[in-house]
Order: sequence, then C-alpha cells, then structure tokens
Amino acid sequence: MAKPPPLEQGGGKGVTVQAPAGPGPWLPWMRRALALAALGEGRTSPNPLVGAVVLDAAGHLVGEGFHARAGEPHAEVGALAQAGERARGGTLIVTLEPCCHQGRTPPCTDAVIKAGISRVVVAMTDPDPRVAGGGMARLRAAGLEVIEAVAEQEALQLNRAFVHRVRTGRPLGILKWAMSLDGRTALPNGQSQWISGPQARDWVHRLRAGCDAVIVGGGTVRADDPLLTSRGRRQPEPLRVVLSRSLDLPEAARLWDQKAAATLVAHCPEPPPAKHQGDATLEEGRRRLDRLGVERLELPACEPAALLEALAARGVNQVLWECGPELAASAMRQGCVQELAVVIAPKLLGGLAARTPVGELGLVGMDQVLPWRELQRSSLGADLLWQLIHYDPTETTESGITGSSPAGPPMVGPSTTP
Ligand SMILES: NC(=O)c1ccc[n+]([C@@H]2O[C@H](COP(=O)([O-])OP(=O)(O)OC[C@H]3O[C@@H](n4cnc5c(N)ncnc54)[C@H](OP(=O)(O)O)[C@@H]3O)[C@@H](O)[C@H]2O)c1
Repeated sequence: MAKPPPLEQGGGKGVTVQAPAGPGPWLPWMRRALALAALGEGRTSPNPLVGAVVLDAAGHLVGEGFHARAGEPHAEVGALAQAGERARGGTLIVTLEPCCHQGRTPPCTDAVIKAGISRVVVAMTDPDPRVAGGGMARLRAAGLEVIEAVAEQEALQLNRAFVHRVRTGRPLGILKWAMSLDGRTALPNGQSQWISGPQARDWVHRLRAGCDAVIVGGGTVRADDPLLTSRGRRQPEPLRVVLSRSLDLPEAARLWDQKAAATLVAHCPEPPPAKHQGDATLEEGRRRLDRLGVERLELPACEPAALLEALAARGVNQVLWECGPELAASAMRQGCVQELAVVIAPKLLGGLAARTPVGELGLVGMDQVLPWRELQRSSLGADLLWQLIHYDPTETTESGITGSSPAGPPMVGPSTTP
C-alpha cells in the first residue's frame, strides 16, 4: 500500500503518491491528516483541531490543510483550495466531519460538494449539536461516498478537550502538582521552590502551551508569586486566572504584569466567610485590581464549576489547574479535573504540618476513593512524571476516550508554579 510522503507544513502540493484503490486502507492518509491537525494545537479554541488531505481521482496528493486559528478557514477548505480543479472526482480525508452550518465561515459541506469531490473519509463525528452527523448526511444526500470512523480513537484523543467542552459545557481540566517522595508540596514553613528540577519545569511550560487557561487560587498567588506563562511557547500566552473569595491579593505580583500575558481575577459579589475581613477587604481588592488594570470577573458563586462554565463561554477548551491543595480539592469535588500530571522528585521534605497536593475531599470509606488510570510514566531528569486519567470503573470515560496518550507535550519534566 502506498504511504503518504513526509509531512511538510503547508506543503504537499503536486506530490504524486498513489492512494489505495477503492474504499481500502485509508489509515496512513488519516494519520497524516491528524498530524496536520495537531499543528494547530493551542490556537484553535473554541474550535477543534482539524486536518485534511485531498487526493485526485488517480490517488495523487493534491492538497492539504489544517485549521490554524478560530475564524480562519477550516482545514478542508484550505486543502480544497490548494487542490483546485484537481479535486474533481477525488477523495477528501478529514479528521472531523465537515460542518453543515453557517458559522464564522460558510458550511464546509457546500465547499466539498462544489469542488466535485466524490469520496469523503472521516475520522470522527462532530459532537457539536449543529452538526452531529448532519454533515455526513448532507454529503451522502449529494451522492458522495462517505467512509466513517477511520482512526476514530486517535481523533477523539486529539480533540478530547473540545469534545469534553461540547458535551459538558466545561473545559477539560488537568491538575498538575510537584511533590517530594513523601508526598509533600512545601516545607512546613511554606517554602516550596523548587521541589522539581529544570527539565520538569520546562515540561510544565510546554504543558501550559497546550492549554487555553492556567488557574491558581489566591493562596498560591500570595505564597509563590508565580508567572504562569509558557515562556513564549504559545502566542498569545494562555489566560492566567486567579480564583479568590477575599480579593486579599498582593499589591505587587508578577501576574499583574499584563505585558507577559493576560490575567483574569474571578471572584463573587458576596463577602467571603470569616477567615477574611469581609466587605471592606473585598471592596479594597476590587479597587486595587481596577487600579492595576487587571480584568475582574464576577461569578455567581466563587466555585471551580462556575469558573469553568464562565471560561467555556469565553471559548476555553482546556484548563490547567496549578493551584494549591485548597482549590485543588474544590476542583476535584466539583468534577473539574479529568487528568493529572504529577511530578515526583527524589527528595524528602518531612514534617507533619507540611502541605500535601490535595486538601479535604470528605471521603470516609475506601470504596469512595477516586480511581485514576495510568496514561504514561516517564523521567524528566531526576524526576518522575506520572500522567493519569480519571475513570469510572463501571463506565468508559466521559468522552468515550480510552486514553491511549496523555494530555500535553510528549512525556519526556515541575516543582511548584514557576
Ligand atoms: N507543589 C505544587 O505543585 C504547588 C502548586 C501550587 C501551589 N503550591 C503550594 O500550595 C500552597 C498554597 O496552597 P493553597 O491551598 O492556599 O493555594 P490555592 O489552592 O492555590 O489557593 C487557595 C485559595 O483559593 C481561593 N478560592 C476561591 N474559591 C475557592 C474555592 N471554592 N475553594 C477553594 N479555594 C478557593 C481562596 O483564595 P482567597 O484566600 O484569596 O479568597 C483560597 O484561599 C503554597 O505553599 C504553594 O507553594 C504547590
């Protein structure tokens, strides 16, 4: 069977490779389309990652494309434009069902039909209720052959954040922490920088680059003064989000420097419980943030779930929780964490009062503990990285994804929040 030529971004035009005859093995072409789709990683939200390949009637590769950014042409439109007249009678191989509704761009199904394509090979159905099989039905109604579910699990895995957001109305959540051999995330006196080594911290920067937003609680801002950027690996940088009940936040913090990346402070209108001073602190905090030019978002409740719903409405598909134990526990309790990225450093911190990664979950029996399944284990310098996915032993995961590969960059390095 013919194999696709090596992938070159935006290339491929005029490359002559014989495609398999008939509806045969489309997998290598679909893998190429998936690799093209991945080139848009970190830039397409709220849209999915999509890649497409066009073969002419004789099976020569004549066009390829990927969705580079929301508002820009869809993958299949780019690939068809590159193919031009050579698409007539040819095959479109696309990682996501073509859309059949007018969004920011016209329906892709119209472009496919107009281009004279005779066969469409699709990896996964678009879960968007405006499409949901309608795109494929429209193509079939127009007389095109449609082959479904080629490399479906790989496509679902690539787009698991998009699928999760469409199905649940909340972005997919990854909780990351770094801890010592004895499960501590800080010394009893609160010092925590650095538990892990430079390779692990570099890996976290890359993990951030694949996320639309990075979230911490007020406690981490006060303790660590984190920067929370991808160090330029993604432009624009992921949105930095602080969830605070009290708005008792420092006057000077690296997060307030909006030249590095945008920051949003989410809070609620009500004064927090007794721990803080109440109305006066809240009002002072509001005024301070306004003076500093930091965007504020008032939530109906100062809770992780409410925050995620607000972020989904802003087009966020995937968030990274980089908070301390208090907010991590709230996020867990509210079902806001689907994956874990845990760095284990070969160090002992000791101390009965030292912090652990996740606070009170309210569990009272071993039958209630939260089960996680390993996705991958790897080394980052001297540290170990363990990536896990939450699962319900009685069901498949929410997205129906079996978790063949983990979120974030390849498994190759964090301490606290660099
Ligand atoms: N090793 C690691 O990977 C890692 C990562 C992050 C942090 N840390 C460590 O964690 C420590 C800070 O821990 P922390 O637990 O105070 O940090 P945190 O979980 O980031 O922040 C807790 C704060 O989140 C805010 N919050 C708002 N709504 C909340 C809700 N519904 N539930 C829970 N919290 C809510 C509150 O802020 P307000 O008080 O402002 O209202 C609360 O005090 C530091 O020592 C830091 O170094 C370690």
